[in-house]
Parts: sequence; structure tokens; C-alpha cells
Amino acid sequence: MILLGVMGNPIEHSRSPEIHLEFARQHQLQIEYEKLLVPENGFREVANTFLERGSLGFNVTLPNKGDACQYVDQLSEDAKASQSVNTVVVEASGRLIGHNTDGLGLSRDIQSNLSWNMEGKSVLILGAGGAVRGVMASILKMKPGQLHVYNRTLEKAIQLEKQHPSTCLKAVSMENLLEGYDFVISGTSAGLLGGEIGLPSKIIGANTLCYDMIYAQTKTPFQAWCDKHNCQESVDGLGMLIEQAAQAFTLWTDCEVNTEAVIQKLRHTI
Ligand code: ATR
Repeated sequence: MILLGVMGNPIEHSRSPEIHLEFARQHQLQIEYEKLLVPENGFREVANTFLERGSLGFNVTLPNKGDACQYVDQLSEDAKASQSVNTVVVEASGRLIGHNTDGLGLSRDIQSNLSWNMEGKSVLILGAGGAVRGVMASILKMKPGQLHVYNRTLEKAIQLEKQHPSTCLKAVSMENLLEGYDFVISGTSAGLLGGEIGLPSKIIGANTLCYDMIYAQTKTPFQAWCDKHNCQESVDGLGMLIEQAAQAFTLWTDCEVNTEAVIQKLRHTI
């Protein structure tokens, strides 16, 4: 039996156990995947106890991705770039490696599942918190021509710009938003962007493709706002969730998985 889990707070809502059980079924692997609630300042203790039970590793979600970064012995390139860890892998030697598979999860969903091509295109990313930090390097790897970051608190967007020296990346204030971006990606925790903070509708054009990094049973508020302003298409982050999980599963087990089947299945049971 392979013992895995996900740590965070809140954790009850997590879909990760179902996703990983689907992956395990594809390879006839016996896994147990637990949801572990982390009390305030309790990450280290929960992680230690779980590893003592012989776990191969675990996922980490909000608000503990920074704690996990401090906890591990070594960081992968993606984890280093984002200073956050969503997957901990126990090596045979017992060393703990921290990875961040969120960025690859997003780019696989965008490129492989949706067949969206960002190369040379104008991209606006909304938010500059942990979620956006985690995917910034992967978005830059998709080679947008222009990547604007807009955040309620401009200073945080400016910090992101400084952390990723790239001529295409720019923190923008409300006045500097462009008309009709090719892509608009929302990475705010609240999922409240849109009407509530008064984003100008001009950012959406008839050809704008919109992506919300969160997912929901029906359209997210951000998707609804984009649809209302006649974007070309708006999607939620269910595909990203499953793709980031697939990367983690492969890190733990060396098994590649079929994500499409799992996306279809979960789409009907959210
Ligand atoms: P996460 O790890 O989910 O990104 P976070 O680091 O707290 O969480 O960041 C939350 C992001 O959502 C931030 O970009 C935040 O904007 P601020 O930096 O200005 O706080 C954004 N956000 C949260 N609630 C928001 C709201 N009601 N309107 C606009 N932006 C919001």
C-alpha cells in the first residue's frame, strides 16, 4: 500500500484523493490518499507524523506551500522559482525534495488540453499572490509577446516583475491595461475579480481566451464576467488541478497517467 496525502487548511473540500485514486486505478496500484488538516503553525508536526507512517510523500495546498518550502531538504527548479512547494517527494535515501507542479499543470492544460498557443500573444494575468507566483515561470516559458500583471495591490505585481527579469513582463496599473488581450488569466484567491473590483471591460475582446485558475461546479464569477463581455471562450482550472496532480503522481510512482479520462469524470461530479 502506498501512503500519500494532501495537507492544508481548509482541506475538507479537496478533490485530490479522488484524482489520485483514479490515477492509481489506471496502474492497478494500491494507494491510500489522506486529507490532513494543518492547524495554525502545525505544518511541521503534521508532516513529521505523516512521514513517520512510511509515506512516499504528500501534496501541499493553501496556506502551507511556503511552510513546505522551508521544510524540505532540497527544492526543484520550479519550486525555487516560485518559492512554494505543492509536492513533497521522499527519496530512497530519506531526503525530502520539494517540487511545484502547479506551473506545469497550468501549461499542460493550456497547451495540451485546450490547444491554446500563447507564443507572441498579449497576456494579462490578474493577481500577484502565491497562486500566480507558482505559475509565472511556466507562463513565461509559453513565450507570450507581452505579459501584463495586474493586481489590486500594485506593489506585489512590481515585485513579481523584479523576480522574473524578462522584457515581455510588466506590472500594470488600471490605467495601463490594454484593450482586447489575447489571453486573460485570473489567479486571485477570491475568484472575485470582475464586477467587484471594477476591471474595465475593454480588456476582453471578441477573440479573448479567458482562464480562471480556480474551478467550480458552474461558471466561476470571473468566467461569468468574461462571458458577459463576450469573450471568445472562458474555462475554469479543473484541468490545471488534474494536470498538476498527474505531475505529482508521476514524481511519486514513476507512472504516467491519462489525465483526459479523469478530467471528463470529475467534470461530471464536481
Ligand atoms: P493565493 O496564494 O491564493 O494567491 P494570496 O497570496 O493571499 O493567495 O493572494 C491572493 C491574490 O488574490 C492577491 O493577488 C490578492 O490581491 P492583493 O495582493 O491586492 O491582496 C487577490 N485578491 C484577493 N481578494 C481580492 C479581491 N476581493 N479583489 C481583488 N483581488 C483580490
